[in-house]
Order: sequence, then structure tokens, then C-alpha cells
Amino acid sequence: MKTIQRTKIVDLLALTTYGCEVNVKGWVRTRRGSKQVAFVALNDGSTIKNVQIVIDLDKIDEELVKKISTGTCLSVNGTLVESIGGGQSVEVQATEIEILGECDNTYPLQKKGQTMEFMRSVAHLRPRTNTFGAIFRIRHNMAYAIHKFFHDRGFYYFHTPIITASDCEGAGQMFQVTTMNLYDLKKDEQGSIKYDDDFFGKQASLTVSGQLEGELAATALGAIYTFGPTFRAENSNTPRHLAEFWMIEPEVAFNDIVDNMNLAEEFIKYCVSWALDNCMDDIKFLNDMIDKELIERLRSIVNTEFVRLKYTEGIEILEKAVADGHKFEFPVYWGVDLASEHERYLVEHHFKRPVILTDYPKEIKAFYMKQNEDGKTVRAMDVLFPKIGEIIGGSEREADYNKLLTRIEELGIPMKDMWWYLDTRRYGSCPHSGFGLGFERLLLFVTGMSNIRDVIPFPRTPNNAEF
Ligand code: 4AD
Ligand code: MG
Repeated sequence: MKTIQRTKIVDLLALTTYGCEVNVKGWVRTRRGSKQVAFVALNDGSTIKNVQIVIDLDKIDEELVKKISTGTCLSVNGTLVESIGGGQSVEVQATEIEILGECDNTYPLQKKGQTMEFMRSVAHLRPRTNTFGAIFRIRHNMAYAIHKFFHDRGFYYFHTPIITASDCEGAGQMFQVTTMNLYDLKKDEQGSIKYDDDFFGKQASLTVSGQLEGELAATALGAIYTFGPTFRAENSNTPRHLAEFWMIEPEVAFNDIVDNMNLAEEFIKYCVSWALDNCMDDIKFLNDMIDKELIERLRSIVNTEFVRLKYTEGIEILEKAVADGHKFEFPVYWGVDLASEHERYLVEHHFKRPVILTDYPKEIKAFYMKQNEDGKTVRAMDVLFPKIGEIIGGSEREADYNKLLTRIEELGIPMKDMWWYLDTRRYGSCPHSGFGLGFERLLLFVTGMSNIRDVIPFPRTPNNAEF
């Protein structure tokens, strides 16, 4: 076969140099035709769009053409011609075809309209479908937008450890990391496991958040963000929880809770605008196939001001809803950790726009949050979104050494694990704030997908670590 420089399909579809010779490579999506001519829709992942390959059976070996079926990988040389019918402006009239990889009829992606459950069982192949191709292109674009947002504003990307000995959220949902022989564990007189001979000489786990180390960096570099994998062993089999997810955590010295809210709102609007400006082909497809209100919802977020409301006021609204006959599965009272149904009631029914809820009871929030004067609440903030519930969790941090120490002791957090964190408050402490955005929750919102397992390539959830 003649050597011609390959053109990606995304670039080829924009060409108007009719009559020129081109080479395209990709995987066959569909094949149809008659005795005389075959039409192949070829996709190479560079765009959701396929290019049509026209194969005249007088010109191409019939035995070779017979082997072309859905999933086959082809290299095609041909002439670029103006397309007469159909959506595309150009197609390729094949002059030479090489089969790079055959594909037999056991290929699982033959039929259209498979369920999402089935797609998860073939997660190794699902990026080859329109839906998952679109999602993973959007995922890449969002990651890029996040780095650009922070870089343009003078934040430094700071790498926090994945293996850690401290439980940032204090929720005890950590996966342990060990090289010990689990069949022969050494224990002390009390029956506790001895970690002296373990790899790190103490108990170690996968991180649930990079925040504590992020605070060390913010109180030196000024403004930083982390963006990395995060692990939680919470046994909640819901459409919004993963055991391994990606989190973005900005942390900024001298920001108070209001600055923090402003940053969160600007950040999320920037990401959604970026998707609308840069991923429209994929978003249009998802709007047609998955969620007919997607584009409208994305546009409306960019243009509305988020509601800012205190937890106590939120509870009052929910209690009034209950009094008026609205049925929630979980009870509503001051002090309760809001369930997703409560958050969504505020966002979807009551305000009909995103809500930033602040000043939560200290009992349901982490030890590091700044304590309010009332002695009951902390300067926490959760950003609540339509269809998602909590998309961001954050706070102003307790900057006072003694107050922080008292809270750590009240909660019985082992001090020996915390000495380095407390040093930020001992040596030149400063007001500072930050938050964490769940990357996959953002992607749920931007793609209109309803299950978090479908916006990460290889989801890890209870009883599932395939691929
Ligand atoms: O609210 P969370 O637990 O906050 C923290 O971890 C703080 N240390 C963040 C900070 O202030 N720097 O988690 C933050 C966000 C949530 O709002 C949610 O979007 C996401 O992380 N998240 C999850 N996403 C998927 N699966 C899970 N199991 C998640 N748990 C939290
Ligand atoms: Mg939270």
C-alpha cells in the first residue's frame, strides 16, 4: 500500500481540498451497501463524527471487503470527495484498503442501544461507543480547563501524597496499605496489630483528601491546588459514590469563607462554560441521546447567581416542606447531616438554582473547620447542585492553635499523627480557606449521565475492581 501521511478524522472533515489523496485509520462503526458498492462508517476517536468510506467493489478486492465488519480496524487510502447526501461535507472514495486488525462476530459492541449495566461489563471496550467516546473526550477537556483556570490565576499545582498516615476527614473510611503477611499478623498484649515491621513502620492508608498537606503548601506558596486520585472505603452503593475518585482541592492563604464561596462559584461556572465552548459536538450528542435538558441546564448554571444560605435557614425550609406534607425518606431536624434528597429539594424544588449552604453544626463536620462565635456551628460550605446534590465541600480553616488543639482533643484524634499539621498554626498562622470538588460529580453534571460509574473509565465500587 502506498504511504500517505495519516489525517485524523476531525481534521479530514474540515477539509475542502476535494480530489486530494488522503489516508485515514480507524475502527468500523457500521458497514452497509449493495453488490456494487459498500459504505463504511469509520471512527478514530478524534471526534464523535464518523467519516464515510465509499468502496467500489470493482476497485477493491472482494475477499478483503468481505472481512470488513463492525469493530474491524482499517487503514484506507483514497480520494477526498464532496459528499452529496447526508450530514457530512466530505467522504473518502477508497483506492486501497489494508485491514490492520480483523474483528469477528463475538465483538460485544455489535448492537446499538445496549444498557449502561451491560456497558460496564465491557468497560475495556466501551470507549469505542459514541456515548463513552463523548464522555471521555469531555473528561479530558474538563481536566485541562481545571489546570488552566488555576494556572491563569496564579495558583500552583501541588502534589500531595497518595499514601498517608493521617485521616483528613476523620471518617475512618480508609483503605490500608501494607506489606505484612495477613495470614500471620503480629499482635501486642492487648491484641492490637503491631506495625513496627510493616513497610512504613506504622499504619498507612490511601489518602481520602490532600487537604492537610495542601494547607501546608498554601501557607507557604499562597494559593495552591491539588488534583489527584482519592480513596474512600465507604460502603455506599449509590450512583454518586466511588471508592476511587478524583478530587480538585484549592487552598488559599488569607481567603475567608466569602472569598472561598466566590472562588467555588467562579470555578464551577468556568468549567461549565469551557465545556459549552469546547465540547459542543459531544454535548449535543449527549443532549439528544441521554438528557434532553442538558444544554439548557448547563447554560442556565453559567448565567445564574448561586443562592447563599445558612444551614439553619435550610433546615427551616425543609421543616416547612415536611409540615406542608412533603415526604422525605430521612428525618429533618437541626443537627442532621443532610441526605441527598434534602439537598436536592432545596436546589430543585425550592430555589431552582445551585445553593451554597454554610455554617453547619460542628458535630457533622471535620475537625479543621473554623469555629463560629455561637460555639455550635463551623464555617463550612457545601455547594449543592441540581441532579447531583453535594458537588463541593469546603470551609474556612481554624487558624487558632488553641481552638484547633481543643477540637482535636475533643474528637480523640491521635496527636502524634497531627504534630506537623499543628505547626502551621504555631508558626505564622494565617486565615485560609479551601474546598474539594469531586471531579466525577462535576462530570455527572456536565455530561447529563446519571450514574457515577459511567463517567470514569474503570469504576471502583464495593465488589467491583474489574479491569
Ligand atoms: O466533602 P468532602 O469529603 O471534603 C473533603 O474531602 C475536604 N477535605 C475538601 C477540602 O476542603 N479540601 O469531599 C469533597 C467532594 C465532595 O463534595 C464530592 O463532590 C466528592 O468530593 N466526593 C466524592 N465523589 C465521589 N465518590 C465519593 N465517594 C466521594 N466522596 C466525596
Ligand atoms: Mg462533604
